[in-house]
Amino acid sequence: MARIAYDERAAVAFAATRHLDEGGIARWQAAVGRHLRPRPDLRLLDLGAGTGTWSVAFRDWYGAQVVAVEPSAAMRTRAVCPGLVAGRAEALPFAAASLDAAWLSTVIHHLPDLPAVAAGLRRVLRPGAPVLVRSVFAGRSDGISLFRWFPEAARVLDSYPSVTQVRAAFAAAGFPTASLERVSQVSAASLAEAAAGLRREAHSPLLLLDDDAFARGLDRLRRAAVRTPDAPVVDRMDLLVLR
Ligand SMILES: C[S@@+](CC[C@H](N)C(=O)[O-])C[C@H]1O[C@@H](n2cnc3c(N)ncnc32)[C@H](O)[C@@H]1O
Repeated sequence: MARIAYDERAAVAFAATRHLDEGGIARWQAAVGRHLRPRPDLRLLDLGAGTGTWSVAFRDWYGAQVVAVEPSAAMRTRAVCPGLVAGRAEALPFAAASLDAAWLSTVIHHLPDLPAVAAGLRRVLRPGAPVLVRSVFAGRSDGISLFRWFPEAARVLDSYPSVTQVRAAFAAAGFPTASLERVSQVSAASLAEAAAGLRREAHSPLLLLDDDAFARGLDRLRRAAVRTPDAPVVDRMDLLVLR
């Protein structure tokens, strides 16, 4: 199924509405920290880095040396940090066994050839280095507020890779073990902010809805925002670790 093409329009919407603030992602620091051994020379790959917000977090949290790869020029142009490299997950421009960890945040559903990506990561990561996948997987829409307002969008998730498929592709490439946990984040400080700031073109599942379903969902969200404007929007996303 087609995904967002990260062109100018999508990149503007992403940069405007999908940057999470430091407090909102505090639990990710603890969750990821359980799988890394932070040290000053840790070299971490931020794959499909988008506008680089996680690259900044990894530098701030762990003092990591981050190498960020992002194919979309429109996203790279809006990066919040310098140094994003043009490239794709299917052809990683790094030497063998030169990296200590890989981070893929809401990217896995953009990668149709998972076996090729897993094989490429196996080549560039050192033995024992983790692949950390932050995502919503097929069949696991509960915990994500977007699907409460736009329930029809959960069907779009059926076309995303499942945990089982990702685990199988990575196991075949030599990443045999995995852990899976849900991590909470504050996606918006308030429902009022979420309703005012929602941009359809920043979310693949919303882009793939028909217009009537999108209008119904927006109405649900706006009515909820009138009822409880100050309620924070808390989502629980998956962290899948392959090693
Ligand atoms: C939803 S954005 C996530 C950006 C960032 N990881 C974050 O969480 O803020 C998905 C990103 O994956 C990138 N992407 C799409 N196809 C890719 C590929 N084949 N290899 C690497 N990145 C890809 C897109 O350009 C886009 O920036």
